[in-house]
Amino acid sequence: MNKFVFFGGKGGVGKTTVSSAYGLKCARDGLETLLVSTDPAHSTSDVFDQQFDDDPEPVEGHENLFAMELDPEEEVQRHMTDIKSTMSDQVSPAIVNEIDRQIELAHRTPGAYEAALFDRFIDVMRSSEEYDRVVFDTSPTGGTLRLLALPEFLESWIERLTAKRTESVDLFEKAAIGDKEARQKLAEDPIIRRLTERKKLFEFAGETLREQSAFYLVLNPDELSIEESHRAVADLTEAGLTVGGLVVNKVAPEPDEGETGTGATYLRERYRTEQDRLARIREEFDQPVVAVIEQRVSEIKGDLLSEVTAELGIETAASPPQA
Ligand SMILES: Nc1ncnc2c1ncn2[C@@H]1O[C@H](COP(=O)(O)OP(=O)(O)OP(=O)(O)O)[C@@H](O)[C@H]1O
Ligand SMILES: [Mg+2]
Repeated sequence: MNKFVFFGGKGGVGKTTVSSAYGLKCARDGLETLLVSTDPAHSTSDVFDQQFDDDPEPVEGHENLFAMELDPEEEVQRHMTDIKSTMSDQVSPAIVNEIDRQIELAHRTPGAYEAALFDRFIDVMRSSEEYDRVVFDTSPTGGTLRLLALPEFLESWIERLTAKRTESVDLFEKAAIGDKEARQKLAEDPIIRRLTERKKLFEFAGETLREQSAFYLVLNPDELSIEESHRAVADLTEAGLTVGGLVVNKVAPEPDEGETGTGATYLRERYRTEQDRLARIREEFDQPVVAVIEQRVSEIKGDLLSEVTAELGIETAASPPQA
């Protein structure tokens, strides 16, 4: 199993639950495990009844398990402040306000969340030496997984920007013939330096995601969720990332034979429909179904989490057992 494990899927399918269960499973198998979650609405904090924030903290009552929670809103702010301060060093005071306004607008566009989170994910991946396993519970929009698939695209975008900047610094230099300082400008240009740093970051991300990461999709036995998973598999596969398997969550339990009331009849119908969909999932996807988790009556925490942990057929071993 790879060091970094990502769980993705549509909103509410059970990403946080399954990530927590898998993290717990790794920790119980003796791996130093870090759980990284992003969704403040229902998150690792609720599952373990313990507040987590930006810094990894031990999860009480569970040896080897650590958790951190990223707040997307805060990440967007941080990202914005960071870019503003880099930019304001580069431009004349006269246009600082206009640039700030543009940066603020850019951070209100859809995708800003994911962009900021993506940067934080890279940070976490780079500074996780002390962990054997890092489990990412991705954000509900599905955009994060798509972004994760994009580092190569970002890399080439940055290359183009760098080329443009080099060209303009070069033109500037030609215009300033006789100015002995001009030649130095190219090497020291802060914008080129920044772009080069970003490029290295994306190279690192692409490599780490392709070579050291596993992706699992969580889905429910409903049509929308199945559709979405097909798209996610296609996106990830196209980017050279391997989807290790599917976790089908919230599957209706089968009522006992003898039960005949309206409730039992409804549940039986529903059970059949979902079993058909489950069969379809097994048939349509190349990826194995690694767990089928029944819908419980109450939300998953405490003992219920332990039960779900036991149902997860995802290996934890640092390297797959030799056949
Ligand atoms: N098998 C299950 N049986 C009963 N409740 C479940 C099950 N799996 C998850 N839940 C509950 O469903 C809700 C949503 O689950 P969860 O938060 O894990 O989904 P999510 O995909 O992380 O959602 P979001 O997209 O909002 O981040 C939670 O209240 C959780 O306890
Ligand atoms: Mg969640």
